[in-house]
Amino acid sequence: MLPILNSLGNSSKGTHSRGGDSPGHDSRGDDSGSRGSESGQSHSADSRGGDSFSNDSYSNIVSLGEGNTPLYDLPQSGRRLKLSRLLAKHQGMNPTGSFKDTGMTAAISVARERDAAWVACASTGNTSAAMAAYAARAGMRSLVLIPEGEIAWGKLSQAMDYGALTIQLRTDFDGCVRVLREVVERAPVYLLNSVNPYRLEGQKTSAFEIAEQMEWQVPDHVIVPGGNLANSSALGKGFLEMKQLGLTASAPRISVIQAEGADPLVRSFREFGAEKLEPVRAETRASAIRIGAPASWRKAVRVIQETGGWVEEVSEAEIAVAKAEIGAEGIGCEPASAVTLAGLKKLVAQGKIRGEESVVLILTGHTLKDPDYTIKYHRGELLTEAEETGLEAEIEGTRRNAVLMDASADEVLRELERLAG
Ligand code: F0G
Repeated sequence: MLPILNSLGNSSKGTHSRGGDSPGHDSRGDDSGSRGSESGQSHSADSRGGDSFSNDSYSNIVSLGEGNTPLYDLPQSGRRLKLSRLLAKHQGMNPTGSFKDTGMTAAISVARERDAAWVACASTGNTSAAMAAYAARAGMRSLVLIPEGEIAWGKLSQAMDYGALTIQLRTDFDGCVRVLREVVERAPVYLLNSVNPYRLEGQKTSAFEIAEQMEWQVPDHVIVPGGNLANSSALGKGFLEMKQLGLTASAPRISVIQAEGADPLVRSFREFGAEKLEPVRAETRASAIRIGAPASWRKAVRVIQETGGWVEEVSEAEIAVAKAEIGAEGIGCEPASAVTLAGLKKLVAQGKIRGEESVVLILTGHTLKDPDYTIKYHRGELLTEAEETGLEAEIEGTRRNAVLMDASADEVLRELERLAG
């Protein structure tokens, strides 16, 4: 995790008069134009005045051994799409099972240095799991606000297991953000939602890792899911900084994929030329990205435009099929991560990505985060008939339901013969 250490170390040179914004970070970072943004927090990293790090910054580092996640190839999908180099950076292989850990190690280390007693976030599940784990390691209390009944069990169980004060609110994610904003204005808790600049500094390290893993020849394309739009911003920052420093010759095109039912960024490009974003009422089974008012949309727009990437949206059935295909590669991911492969198929079909180009998908969460979704898909209980229309063959080809039979070797062997024949 040297890059994080570096960025924390650089910060101690006293570059941030505004307290909290990390080196080179756009201080307009909270995208406050968005109604649902997490800005306005009075106890956030931006407002507590702790604008330098003391000499013992390194002793405050809280780590669970995050980062250095694998970069897998996806040979089956690559063949189907006629792509010579299709890779997946699996951020779900981090300690708490999602990409949130690289940002959380940085932000919780800062919180510890500032002697925060409480940290808090609103979350669709993964941020809360990561925050709860790192806060527990640091000996801090953590407050998690999550939308009731809307997050995957794996993630809810993690927050409980790591000892967070877990509060389920009768609202959606965007409603949780609104409540949290008020809480942090009225109580001394350190805000750890993704507008926290240190989280982005930590999350950008996956760009460094990809470059290093590809021997400093960055891919032509990086495809990332879009929810609150922090990760696309962080990755863009990482790749663009490497290019500026001369570590790499170019930056990849960064494309952001959303679910059709939670597509405010796609609409912003389509309807307003990315000048304005109107929040939507978000609905998708990919619960991690069920977000209607993304906080970091302006930053994501800048990254997409600067790198020449695209935005695209994918249907519920497209997500489910893509997830099963990633599973069939022996890798697996949670539903929100699978939008990347589903979106890639569209970009290839549109001629935007060509066979000889290299592509890295960012798989943001582990398949065990949301086993309910997976089991329902393979049992044929996930999608409605209307949703399946047009994708019946792909669904049929990827569905692997469990088989029930009596405890008899003969029966098991008959099933093997049936499959062989
Ligand atoms: N994939 C997964 C698995 C996520 O958990 C998230 C966001 C995203 C993609 C989208 O990333 O928000 O940076 O655009 N999860 C947040 C959470 C919102 O609370 O766990 P983003």
